[in-house]
Amino acid sequence: MSSPPARERGLKGKVALITGAGGGIGRGIARCLAEEGVHLALADISKSGAEAAAEEMEKFDISAVPYTLDVTDKSQCEDVVDAVNKKFSSLDIVVNNAGVIGGADFKLGMPLSDINEDDWDDTYNVNVKGVFLLCQASLEKMKGKGWGRIINISSRAGRDGRETIPHYSASKAAVIIFTQALAREVAREGITVNAVCPGLIWSAMWKQIAEKLREKFPNFQGKTTREIFDDFVEQTPLGVEQSTEDIGRVVAFLASDDAKTITGQAILVDSGAVMH
Ligand SMILES: NC(=O)c1ccc[n+]([C@@H]2O[C@H](COP(=O)([O-])OP(=O)(O)OC[C@H]3O[C@@H](n4cnc5c(N)ncnc54)[C@H](O)[C@@H]3O)[C@@H](O)[C@H]2O)c1
Repeated sequence: MSSPPARERGLKGKVALITGAGGGIGRGIARCLAEEGVHLALADISKSGAEAAAEEMEKFDISAVPYTLDVTDKSQCEDVVDAVNKKFSSLDIVVNNAGVIGGADFKLGMPLSDINEDDWDDTYNVNVKGVFLLCQASLEKMKGKGWGRIINISSRAGRDGRETIPHYSASKAAVIIFTQALAREVAREGITVNAVCPGLIWSAMWKQIAEKLREKFPNFQGKTTREIFDDFVEQTPLGVEQSTEDIGRVVAFLASDDAKTITGQAILVDSGAVMH
């Protein structure tokens, strides 16, 4: 007896552009979309990061192309979108995942006076302006086809401001409201716009945060960065961290036809840490 055909979620053969694709969550999103048969344009400010991501996708039956892209640069956003559209003859899904928490030497808040203007500006430039610029460039190619998906990676911090990272929290809240505004604008084009709000993922970004927490607060001194991360995980209702695939699968769902009537939402994937 033959098994029934796999349920088609409408993603096979679509083309997705993912920013920050060289990083932890970006790679998880790429793997989950690749599993669904989505062709991938993998963009990152780090050339080697984008290339490594594309190399990792070789095991899937799709094509994956790396692009070097600084999302804060309008002309680079336009050039990459043009290049992707030329290469794949389409652009169906955009995942704005690139994000930062300040410059390499950023300071945590508590007190607020420790946050400097440069960290505020760097964070807003990548996390907010970058999303705006890439959406603006991409929509030119996405409109008029009756189908499209934009998925913005916000954060639990954008739903519930965190005292040590007020600049980052504010930037991620801005992403949610931008998501809603754009969702309304493009709804009748058949384009949905949603946000995903991850909680705690053990990536380069979290390692950076844990180091800063240890430097600043006596209760974290003597702990490894991983132990500090685990303390935060333990405080969540489910008590488990999120894998990069936990985020990727929600992105794949939002991109699929299963989510065709969902738009303007900000979905928490955070072990129940925030419930409003
Ligand atoms: N790790 C977490 O716990 C967590 C929680 C909530 C939200 N997030 C968000 O998830 C996203 C991915 O974070 P991550 O944890 O994978 O971090 P990461 O540091 O591993 O990855 C971020 C990627 O973005 C790239 N990037 C940075 N600036 C860029 C720019 N100007 N243009 C293009 N690419 C740029 C980096 O090179 C890196 O590859 C971010 O938006 C982050 O704010 C992460």
